[in-house]
Amino acid sequence: MSDKTVQITDSATNKTATFPIVTGTLGPPAIDIGKLNKETGYFTFDPGFAATAAARSAITFIDGDAGVLLYRGYPIDQLAKQSNFLEVSYLLLNGQLPDKAKFSAFEDEITHHTMMHEALKNFLHGFHHDAHPMAMLCGSIASLSAFYHDTLDMDDPEQRRLAAIRLIAKMPTIAAAAYRYSIGWPIRYPRNNLDYVTRFLHMMFEVPSEPLQLSPIVAKALDLLFILHADHEQNASTSTVRLVGSTGANPYACVAAGIAALWGPAHGGANEAVLKMLAQIGDAKNVGKAVEKAKDKNSGFRLMGFGHRVYKNFDPRATIIRDMCHKLLADLNVNDPLLDVAMALEEVALKDSYFVERKLYPNVDFYSGLIYKALKIPTEMFTVMFAIARTSGWVAHWLEQHLDPETRIGRPRQIYTGSVKRDYVGFDKR
Ligand code: CMC
Repeated sequence: MSDKTVQITDSATNKTATFPIVTGTLGPPAIDIGKLNKETGYFTFDPGFAATAAARSAITFIDGDAGVLLYRGYPIDQLAKQSNFLEVSYLLLNGQLPDKAKFSAFEDEITHHTMMHEALKNFLHGFHHDAHPMAMLCGSIASLSAFYHDTLDMDDPEQRRLAAIRLIAKMPTIAAAAYRYSIGWPIRYPRNNLDYVTRFLHMMFEVPSEPLQLSPIVAKALDLLFILHADHEQNASTSTVRLVGSTGANPYACVAAGIAALWGPAHGGANEAVLKMLAQIGDAKNVGKAVEKAKDKNSGFRLMGFGHRVYKNFDPRATIIRDMCHKLLADLNVNDPLLDVAMALEEVALKDSYFVERKLYPNVDFYSGLIYKALKIPTEMFTVMFAIARTSGWVAHWLEQHLDPETRIGRPRQIYTGSVKRDYVGFDKR
């Protein structure tokens, strides 16, 4: 809290009310309007929460104008270069980088919670074989609260911690199982001798008949994508997890709600939408037409993978992903014509005054799909990949919220635009 205040004067009554200014360690200050309604009778109107901070959080910081992203204070490019996804998960959950012993203990605990309950297989088999894997993931994760109903006392810090570990550990197992079910392959059990990302790749692609050969860059690229997607402060899915969490709901239900929010094409579903869009454009020579269409508000078409609520500059994650995309495709000797389409699209859009004026830059989802494609991950699984990574952010926020004395049930108000009070009339008088 700072000493500064803001005064609001109602021009109709000339009454003035004073509100405190709240500051964090970084970022712009905010007006604490918690008592606004009590003192003035007004609510605020902020569709999409474009000007609203919903919580104090010490996990992730974004400076959208400067293109800065910090996890617990560490710049994303340093973590991308030097860390790994599991260490980043520890950092997000615990606030500090682990020493070797703490990291080993964390990795060991995650590794020993990767199995899914055998009965969950029956649950998966209840889905139609061509169900979208996000639908299967969302349903299966919600069902975990039925499997672990004996450890759902959310007032117990140890039960909360265990739920966080279980979610990070089981998400890849369930995701891979959903994929294999959808293509009719037998489910692979997690192998404890592998690291988190390599284990996931084995659960996805290993067949009983032959060993899986993986180039080291494959796990490296996926690990990088997981680091970059691990958290992003109060984004739509994390805010959903927090909103559901504010009611006291169990963490499996909260994370299932987060998965549902992530699925939308304006959020995590954009990576799948980008690839479909690039395929539709088909060739670099059609890029100009696509950009014109995206500028036409009546077309209903947007450039997927472009624009961001917070970044009004390059999304720092997009730059890192673009570099990895080039490296991976070169290393794997993949010649993907869609990469040429993506590069041409980026070049044309970044020079176009519509995109320049609105500060629309490629976001994290623009190049990630091309990496997933090169890793042979099917398009329907792209948002599932995002969900696996974002789970560590979701549970970090859920844990933080449980320790925050300011947490209250999330309950926005509205501007009612319906009918004024009227009397019911029977059929004969309507
Ligand atoms: N293509 C064309 N025009 C766009 C685009 C786009 N991708 N994004 C925004 N605009 C225009 C929009 O029409 C508006 O124009 P005007 O001021 O003339 O009305 C202006 O830019 C501001 O857009 P907005 O919709 O008010 O911005 P927002 O902050 O509400 O939405 C967004 C942010 C990410 C939903 C939006 O940029 C978008 O739909 N992008 C495409 C989907 C996408 O790539 N989503 C992934 C986001 S990053 C990862 C994640 O969150 O999961």
